[in-house]
Amino acid sequence: MNGIPADNITVNENGKLCFAGRDVTLLGKKYGTPLWLLDEERLRENCRKYTSAVKKCMKKGSMVLYASKALCMKGLYPILLEEGMGADVVSGGEIATALAAGFPADRLYFHGNNKSAEELDYALDKGIGAVIVDNGYELGLLDAAAGKKGKKQDILLRLIPGIDPHTFNAVDTGRIDCQFGMPIETGQARDFVIEALKCKNLTLKGYHFHIGSQIFDSTPFIDALKIMTRFSAEIRQAAGYEPSVLDIGGGFGVRYKEEDPLMDIPGGVRAIQGALEEIWAEAGLELPAVMLEPGRSIVADAVMTVYTAGPVKEINGYRKYVIVDGGMSDNPRYALYRSKYTVLNASRMDESEMVEISVSGRCCEPGALIQEYVKIPLPHPGDTIAVCTTGAYNYSMASNYNRLPKPAMVMLMSGGGDRLMIRRQTWEEMAECELI
Ligand SMILES: Cc1ncc(COP(=O)(O)O)c(C=O)c1O
Repeated sequence: MNGIPADNITVNENGKLCFAGRDVTLLGKKYGTPLWLLDEERLRENCRKYTSAVKKCMKKGSMVLYASKALCMKGLYPILLEEGMGADVVSGGEIATALAAGFPADRLYFHGNNKSAEELDYALDKGIGAVIVDNGYELGLLDAAAGKKGKKQDILLRLIPGIDPHTFNAVDTGRIDCQFGMPIETGQARDFVIEALKCKNLTLKGYHFHIGSQIFDSTPFIDALKIMTRFSAEIRQAAGYEPSVLDIGGGFGVRYKEEDPLMDIPGGVRAIQGALEEIWAEAGLELPAVMLEPGRSIVADAVMTVYTAGPVKEINGYRKYVIVDGGMSDNPRYALYRSKYTVLNASRMDESEMVEISVSGRCCEPGALIQEYVKIPLPHPGDTIAVCTTGAYNYSMASNYNRLPKPAMVMLMSGGGDRLMIRRQTWEEMAECELI
């Protein structure tokens, strides 16, 4: 037990923290802070855990769709493509980013519960792989848009199986009362499918569900599959339709703290497929191809945030704070839902005396903390402070609050060397869209 949550984080002989074998303090000096470091090898390993398991046990045509919302940036897509992945996208912006990086449109699956007519047109024009239709209104819009263009568009329907995966509410989307998709229990999903089958310009390939995030166990997926099986059998009976594709969403958990479980990704994929084969066969349904949409578990432990410590304050009788040069503008997750992270004093990994200290960002919000009451060697101004496992929902949720520029991201390449993936924003760029 040394408090380190991932095996790509080590300490060198000088007592400095290393990520992917590179000294984090030196990288902070070279590129400036705040800085995101991306471990290319870990990113690829995470992709391969999914792709090799899917290839081994799932039906031909099954695919791993990286959930772009976790971390959307151009440099990621060529790597995803090399690793045989597809991608899930939720906006025109995410589609444009993937396409600008040379990602093929037919490997993109378009999500979202309020896609605009402009976004649907754009997706159709670009030849998107499939649209995951969220509701009846969108079904009408898309059918009409495809008709106007003389196209027949592949679609999946987003359904709500009504599963509580026992995760925190903010990231739990499989419950019935949810703004994404149409619920099975109320009968609305059934009407939605019947409606979709009538659309002349759309080809219904199958169903989608996403039950939540930070799930460490295949049981809630299997529970959802049981509901989907019953539903599929009911629709076959009512309309003679069987899905050829089942998209089971994302949600596998990642280890933020050393005490968190470590998800066995290939084991989880195998367990889900095993259950699917059994229950689908029992219902006499033909086995569908499966799509998985992992986001967090692809990128989270492939990234570390590097800050520089500023003042260290003691509020007498209360607590100590170290104030770093970033904040909720680059990582809003603690402020949003008290997300746990491992914080390390990268400059003093060889010191054994720990202090309890809260890590604050520089944003003007009392709740804008990075983490509270962590135990690290007392930071001195200028020390490098690292926050681990920040690949997911950090850059993609970053803002310019207080006009703080978005940090740079540097890739630590598999073969050695480092490369700038995202240039640090400038003060002037933040005002670029504004008119006087
Ligand atoms: C539809 C859908 N698919 C995939 C994901 C990715 O989930 P995770 O990052 O937990 O793997 C999400 C996350 O919100 C989602 O809403």
